[in-house]
Amino acid sequence: MKTPVEGVDHIAIATPNLDESLAFWERALGIRCEHVEELPERGIKVAMLPVGGTRIELVAPLRADSEVSAFLDKRGGGIHHLALRVADVDAGTAELKAEGVRMAQDPAPGAHGCRVAFVHPKATGGVLLELSTPPVGRR
Ligand code: CO
Repeated sequence: MKTPVEGVDHIAIATPNLDESLAFWERALGIRCEHVEELPERGIKVAMLPVGGTRIELVAPLRADSEVSAFLDKRGGGIHHLALRVADVDAGTAELKAEGVRMAQDPAPGAHGCRVAFVHPKATGGVLLELSTPPVGRR
């Protein structure tokens, strides 16, 4: 992929209960949540907590067939994906596909106005990898 990787955008943790998870991360660890957002088309609710130069993303299901439901059913809460910030997720995805890399999801609107794609865990050694490009005003 020629598209530059600019940093770790976030580490996502799937949780069955967003309020309980927020209580731990905010009250016990003192990390302040900066943004909570529902993404009904993906069946999820996310909370973003900035830590140093990156963020923790808590992801909880809004319904039984949400994007994280199968993961939660299979193994309970835990680290769900790693997100890298890339300069241009559409160009990056096209380049990866040209290299024969298997994608789990093509570029689509994500949380916080970002555009995101997912590389399949089979291609990365077992980690679901998100590629994320922030909206123009936040680059
Ligand atoms: Co994410």
